[in-house]
Amino acid sequence: MSIFTDFEPDTAACLPDAVAQIRANLEAIKSTIVLTSARGGVGKSALTVSIAAALAQSGRKAVLFDADLNSPSLHAMLGMKTPRRLPLSDAADPATGPLGLRVVTVNVALEPAIPLLNLSDAEILPATENGSRPASTGYAATLSRTLAHTRLGAADLLLIDAAPGLEACSRILELVPEANFVVVSHPARLAAQATQRMLEFLASKRARVLGLVENMVGFNCDGCHAVRPLLPHGAMIATAVAAGVSILDRLPFDPRLAETNDRGALFIREYADTPLAKQIVGLAQSLERSALTRDATAPRDDREVPGAN
Ligand SMILES: Nc1ncnc2c1ncn2[C@@H]1O[C@H](COP(=O)(O)OP(=O)(O)OP(=O)(O)O)[C@@H](O)[C@H]1O
Ligand SMILES: [Mg+2]
Repeated sequence: MSIFTDFEPDTAACLPDAVAQIRANLEAIKSTIVLTSARGGVGKSALTVSIAAALAQSGRKAVLFDADLNSPSLHAMLGMKTPRRLPLSDAADPATGPLGLRVVTVNVALEPAIPLLNLSDAEILPATENGSRPASTGYAATLSRTLAHTRLGAADLLLIDAAPGLEACSRILELVPEANFVVVSHPARLAAQATQRMLEFLASKRARVLGLVENMVGFNCDGCHAVRPLLPHGAMIATAVAAGVSILDRLPFDPRLAETNDRGALFIREYADTPLAKQIVGLAQSLERSALTRDATAPRDDREVPGAN
């Protein structure tokens, strides 16, 4: 089943309207960070939840946006019930979770009875001057509608948890060109190679990339005095050097993170004294700092909007 199709050429002409609507909705949000990855299962959602919780613990206001439309997981990881049967509206509110975190998933903003991927871009984006409508690209349409119409309000940070892969990353970049990207990967060579392609793509689009997070680098067992490698490692350094980006952090594997995620509990609260929790708290602080610095040095409209010319 092919669901993440490219925008048709006509769609590009409509994109600036969508970008402008989304930009207006993000007006009271100081900075946006997208956690993305070339491959699935590397820890984007787990980190999004933990980073947001760390920010909330230090008094920041964060909104989480689950852009993994086919398989949203932030609600469950935060122990929230996914609201059902909310009416489809132009101005849905994010749901509020632990520590005052506000969370947007398609289940919050869209009536579940509407088949998610049957939405077409024509429902989001106006027809072009010659009257043609873009072909259906359910992912882009749903993402666009939700980003534009959910009442995101004021916040220090919007954290977008992307679906895995270049396609989803590309759609988010088109809609939120000023977002700051963090690329997550595990250490194995094939993952590092895929990550390198994603970094090359982001560079070609002049996206703001804060850096890489290498996750699951080793196993930190309670009785061990050293972190033991979990996967073949070393390839990510070459990837980072080739792409000219920094490795922001190298996080160990700790099964208690997966267990708390499954239970809907906050790892950084329950296991605040673990090396992983301490690293994530430090990572959250440095991400916030560098996103705000980047935004302060780059004007909001410094990105080319596809189709603007
Ligand atoms: N450092 C870690 N230690 C232990 N478990 C981890 C770690 N990072 C992530 N996990 C667990 O690994 C699993 C996959 O993580 P997660 O769902 O966050 O990946 P993802 O990149 O969002 O995946 P997808 O691309 O499918 O959305 C989850 O069960 C999560 O709790
Ligand atoms: Mg995920």
